[in-house]
Amino acid sequence: MAEAIQSHPKVVAEAHGVDTFHPPEKMLANHPSKPHLANIEEYQKLYEESITDPTSFWGRQARQMLSWQRDFQTVQSGSLANGDVSWFTEGQLNACYNLVDRHAHKDPDRVAIIYEADEPGDGRELTYAELLRQVSKTSWVLKQMGVRKGDTVAIYLPMIPEALIAILACIRIGAVHSVVFAGFSADSLRDRVVDGQSKVVITTDEGKRGGKLIGTKKIVDDALKQCPDVTHCLVYKRTGAEIPWTEGRDWWWHDEVDKWPAYYPPETVNAEDPLFLLYTSGSTGKPKGVMHTTAGYLLGAAMTGKYVFDLHDGDRYFCGGDVGWITGHTYVVYAPLLLGVTTVVFEGTPAYPNFSRYWDIIDKHKVTQFYVAPTALRLLKRAGDEHVKAEMKHLRVLGSVGEPIAAEIWKWYFEVVGREKAHVVDTYWQTETGSNVITPLAGVTPTKPGSASMPFFGIEPAIVDPVSGEEIKGNDVEGVLAFKQPWPSMARTVYGSHKRYMDTYLNVYKGYYFTGDGAGRDHEGFYWIRGRVDDVINVSGHRLSTAEIEAALIEHHGIAEAAVVGVADELTGQSISAFVALKDGHETSEQLRKEFVLQVRKSIGPFAAPKTVYIVPDLPKTRSGKIMRRILRKILAGEEDQLGDITTLSDPSIVEKIINTVHASK
Ligand code: WT7
Repeated sequence: MAEAIQSHPKVVAEAHGVDTFHPPEKMLANHPSKPHLANIEEYQKLYEESITDPTSFWGRQARQMLSWQRDFQTVQSGSLANGDVSWFTEGQLNACYNLVDRHAHKDPDRVAIIYEADEPGDGRELTYAELLRQVSKTSWVLKQMGVRKGDTVAIYLPMIPEALIAILACIRIGAVHSVVFAGFSADSLRDRVVDGQSKVVITTDEGKRGGKLIGTKKIVDDALKQCPDVTHCLVYKRTGAEIPWTEGRDWWWHDEVDKWPAYYPPETVNAEDPLFLLYTSGSTGKPKGVMHTTAGYLLGAAMTGKYVFDLHDGDRYFCGGDVGWITGHTYVVYAPLLLGVTTVVFEGTPAYPNFSRYWDIIDKHKVTQFYVAPTALRLLKRAGDEHVKAEMKHLRVLGSVGEPIAAEIWKWYFEVVGREKAHVVDTYWQTETGSNVITPLAGVTPTKPGSASMPFFGIEPAIVDPVSGEEIKGNDVEGVLAFKQPWPSMARTVYGSHKRYMDTYLNVYKGYYFTGDGAGRDHEGFYWIRGRVDDVINVSGHRLSTAEIEAALIEHHGIAEAAVVGVADELTGQSISAFVALKDGHETSEQLRKEFVLQVRKSIGPFAAPKTVYIVPDLPKTRSGKIMRRILRKILAGEEDQLGDITTLSDPSIVEKIINTVHASK
């Protein structure tokens, strides 16, 4: 692996036509101390140990990075084949203690959270001591609402400090948080509250994002009409708007927290007790409640925070992800707080009030690490370099996440945003992996634009032939990506359905964890992620399932059948195209098309809305009724001459009609 790569300060090697960038000299020169590893050889040595002797490697790291109330004897047990992986079994700890208390004791005045509100100039800072007080008070409130260890609490909050406080209060009392992205519709929220068996929901009166108001409490009220088991709703006052209120169920955050003392003792939990649920889309319609457990997840977050992002005392870390997704969980909340650095919580959007917003925040707060999805970078690059005036002289690391980053965007990020002084790390991972799994280490790993580079500690990747199911060894190979051994922060189950967990991840290639992504390993052992090989679409870094959108469309009374496919999109990576066949008695109209889009917005949320809806007389189906989405994808890509054999369709003449519909709308 990577033998050909030596740690020269800056060599731009032409290898198979791709440039290799070494950690920028200026990054190392401006470093307040030095990266945690001296060079790539040191990574290789540690990596080797993590694979050949995981017990010693992870046992040591777990004791070093986390504070335990009771030590563990077993580092790891169970296997991928059996789906019963467990880490640090006998260990006991409290997650919130690890994120807050230990730093509050050591350095109470250190800033934990910088809140940058939607309106520039608004916001505030919270020290670790203040965070501990706020979290403790909120813990009392949850306790008093009847939340016990192991209970689930649903959190439907925008990007404000209270989202972190709510998460931390849950884990302080041993409760399981289930954060639902505040862009999901009432129906989606309802499904997640019901599936996770949450009895308490935390929200705001309204949210504020990009200068617009979002009626969060109203959405919660709509959802709760069909959640009979929810007894309490805690509401943080963000805007002071008039909102509907249900006496006995709804409680104001500020009234409640005021009643309680500033300290609540952290509850002791077992290493493998559940930490949180996070719902994500798969190839089938129903979202899965991915479950992470305590110690292993914390260790993954802390280790990647330290090595991937080069976090050091005194750093100010800004991850632009939303707490409603895994990026926000691991890299807005867990990684920075576990390491006791400052995390920036940004409520707004990169385009409000103008396209300089991110760069102004980085400048103003002297941000040292910035982490964002390529979709935002595409938007900002397109807006023009004149918006990138801020000096951002403290930046050392620029992270990318959520989708492949095109070489030209990578270079723009490196040159225009980072002024060649910051190391770009393209981090590959998933909700299910808990933390970065294929990624450069900032300041250490040589990078190639577009490649997520090399496996993190403990990750043993395999490129698998999807047809034979056999691992393809050696370099210069393509296939699907799987992992050969368990790692601490991997998801342990799908809530309420271990069978689904097994079938989706562990039974596809027995003995392996299957990612669902295609990937290549180049001649130097670098990994290149090609994208999903299942029916999952990635729109602006959001993961959506075609089946879920189809199910939403079919809820409309006018639709007989629907097929959804992802198409390449310059701005959002992929966008959604829907093909629908109408029920008898309905006529094609612009009005109807709008209703269909609205239907998806209502069932899932605005971010899942199809960009284009084609109304067609019928869908291409085999004689057994299977919809051939492949044909639809080819038509949209303009590859009508490469449709393959269509004589197996129940009605081959439909293809011509669909082609005409698509052409007519162009
Ligand atoms: C899917 C996981 C975990 C981060 C946010 C998305 C794609 C993620 C990369 C990357 C290429 C990437 C994969 C993966 N993905 N990071 N650096 N390069 N593709 O989390 O919603 O669980 O989606 O995002 O397809 O399977 P998620």
